[in-house]
Amino acid sequence: MKIDIITLFPAMFDGIFNHSILKRAQDKELVSINLHDLRAYSNNKYKSVDDYAFGGGAGMVMMIEPIDNCITALKSKTDYDEIIYLSPDGELFNQSLANQFSSLKNIILLCGHYKGVDERVRQHLITREISIGDYVLSGGELAAAAFTDSIVRLIPGVLGDETSALSDSFQDQLLSPPVYTRPREYKGMQVPDILLSGNDKEIQKWKYDQSMIRTKERRPELLMEDE
Ligand code: ADE
Repeated sequence: MKIDIITLFPAMFDGIFNHSILKRAQDKELVSINLHDLRAYSNNKYKSVDDYAFGGGAGMVMMIEPIDNCITALKSKTDYDEIIYLSPDGELFNQSLANQFSSLKNIILLCGHYKGVDERVRQHLITREISIGDYVLSGGELAAAAFTDSIVRLIPGVLGDETSALSDSFQDQLLSPPVYTRPREYKGMQVPDILLSGNDKEIQKWKYDQSMIRTKERRPELLMEDE
């Protein structure tokens, strides 16, 4: 999979993409993540990328020209399945969408800033809009990073233990059961006996029951969704 990220702040991704699972996925060449500095695509001598909003109003708007230049340059070399704009008013992201996006070959992520992008970008250059939650971030970078992490870990071969993404919270519309590790007892706090019993059938049943209890208590609406 190839992920091209268009951003005004490429350095924001450094730490996130150069560690842990995202780094390993790139090292194994299961994904290539490429950052494109939008400012480099400005034709303007000041390299500006934003301007005042027509009709007034607070905040600057990202101009269409640099974004068009960048997307056109990328599209001249690669066929994209989706060109995604991260925005708080996009489609609400969830695990089901993460599964779908993880099977795509090439995608572009566009990170917005200020008051967002000129509407013509959204109408003519973008194929999808995604929000990672009903709150407003200062820019699309954190959203693009979260989006990227959630889909890359689902690419076959990225996680060491193939089954471990399948047992994530939300994969089956349930939250994950509690987990424990050594020691068996810490300051009087015990690990549930069942997990030490060696009876795999009973352990699996316990885990399922715990998932159900946790989902009912914390996210009952997940049990209503029919997907
Ligand atoms: N940009 C700003 N806030 C965002 C959000 N919640 N999701 C995606 N992109 C954003």
